[in-house]
Amino acid sequence: MAEQDLERIVVTRDAAGTRALASALAAAARPGDLISLVGDLGAGKTQFAKGFGAGLGITDTIVSPSFVLMAEYRGRLPLFHVDLYRLADAAEALAGGLIDDRQVEGVTLVEWAERLADALPNERLEVLIDGAGDEPRRITLRPGDAGYLRYLEAMPDTMEAGR
Ligand SMILES: Nc1ncnc2c1ncn2[C@@H]1O[C@H](COP(=O)(O)OP(=O)(O)OP(=O)(O)O)[C@@H](O)[C@H]1O
Ligand SMILES: [Mg+2]
Repeated sequence: MAEQDLERIVVTRDAAGTRALASALAAAARPGDLISLVGDLGAGKTQFAKGFGAGLGITDTIVSPSFVLMAEYRGRLPLFHVDLYRLADAAEALAGGLIDDRQVEGVTLVEWAERLADALPNERLEVLIDGAGDEPRRITLRPGDAGYLRYLEAMPDTMEAGR
């Protein structure tokens, strides 16, 4: 699959816009899904996770999981929120218990997913967030395989398209 042909780019002007996008995408979530969140410090990965959680009906406050490897929340599906920022490499992440049997029942969102390198499955939705500070964010949604195309269909058509 030529994933470049299938990716979609959205521009959000503020954190609420990023949360709204993620919340709409959560309607497409199925058990076992993996979403990698890639972007610099302060890009908006955690804002995306908050919106995604809201879309799953999670009422607990989703916070940056930086001091735990994985936080679990209850919603329509369980949400597993992982932050690999403090991990040196994939081996350390895997040794730390990143792979957990319960994840097949929920959706896993991974911040700093690129730290997993080759251990990151292709079967995932990659979310790349470009931009910092008060700048607009350019958010690229890239399905890693055909099973993740449903997330593109869940994109609200009212959102500003990027290129
Ligand atoms: N369009 C936007 N989308 C998301 N966040 C935005 C946007 N515009 C401004 N912001 C601000 O940028 C910051 C994003 O912070 P957030 O914690 O989500 O980043 P992060 O990518 O998770 O960073 P870290 O790598 O430290 O975990 C917030 O303060 C948010 O209010
Ligand atoms: Mg974060």
